[in-house]
Amino acid sequence: MKLGRNDLCWCGSHKKYKSCHLAFDEKLNKMKQEGILVPSHKMIKTPEQIEGIKKSGKLNTAVLDLVAQSIKEGMSTEEINTLVHEYTISHGGIPAPLHYKGFPKSVCTSINEEVCHGIPDKNRILQNGDIVNVDVTTILDGYYADASRMFCIGEVSSEAKRLVEVTKQCLDAGLAAVKPWGFLGDIGYAVNSLATKNGYSVVENIGGHGVGLGFHEEPYVCHIGKPNTGMLLVPGMVFTIEPMVNIGTGEVYQDAANGWTIYTEDGALSAQWEYTVAIRENGVEILTK
Ligand code: MF3
Ligand code: CO
Ligand code: CO
Repeated sequence: MKLGRNDLCWCGSHKKYKSCHLAFDEKLNKMKQEGILVPSHKMIKTPEQIEGIKKSGKLNTAVLDLVAQSIKEGMSTEEINTLVHEYTISHGGIPAPLHYKGFPKSVCTSINEEVCHGIPDKNRILQNGDIVNVDVTTILDGYYADASRMFCIGEVSSEAKRLVEVTKQCLDAGLAAVKPWGFLGDIGYAVNSLATKNGYSVVENIGGHGVGLGFHEEPYVCHIGKPNTGMLLVPGMVFTIEPMVNIGTGEVYQDAANGWTIYTEDGALSAQWEYTVAIRENGVEILTK
């Protein structure tokens, strides 16, 4: 059914369609006819929803800050899980990973050659020299925010340190490539160019995602791409950028026993950083880091 000019806008603004997203829809339709992949309405959040995600993002950042203060050699990944779980719950949130598609814990902890989705375990003790990704996703008032950071335990090799730093730079390069009315492929291009320039590879089949009303929404954000290709980026879209960068091959496999943990095929080190971002009229806003 077509919205009339005087009907309320589909976006939830309570404004009339003609004074809200009418011109926007006309612009998108025209681009669609030109063969551009345009986002659907459900990928566009209202300002209220973005505020909700931002609030969830504040709690998510506080959780990661707590992890940053506490993480150290000799600690088990189960202890990180307990910190994340208890802090989140005591601040009115829900740790999104817990029971998500059967995931058994409240946070992902991925060490060294583990690429992502590592499961906290009381017998997995952080060792001097480990590089660890802690990936926290929080639900607050129904809104999801997702971010991860790398932590270096004790003294890590210069090789590992460089991977962690360059991967962060890859995330920042991806972020810098995000523009309203730009393209999803711009992000993947920026990330992959910097990674390969440094001799690293990027994981292609696990990537970022729309987020906010659910954990994993459309679109899929690939960290390998071509400029000016893929989906159009428009104000109101909220998604993660979360490059996984490997020292060796970009190929990965899943743990057959636990069904979750992803490892590098060659056993070489992998790093990842993640932000949740929102496209605004004038640029991009980081909602949680
Ligand atoms: N936080 C991860 C992401 O960035 C997803 C983890 S799914 C889980 O997309 F079930 F393993 F928690
Ligand atoms: Co995450
Ligand atoms: Co994510």
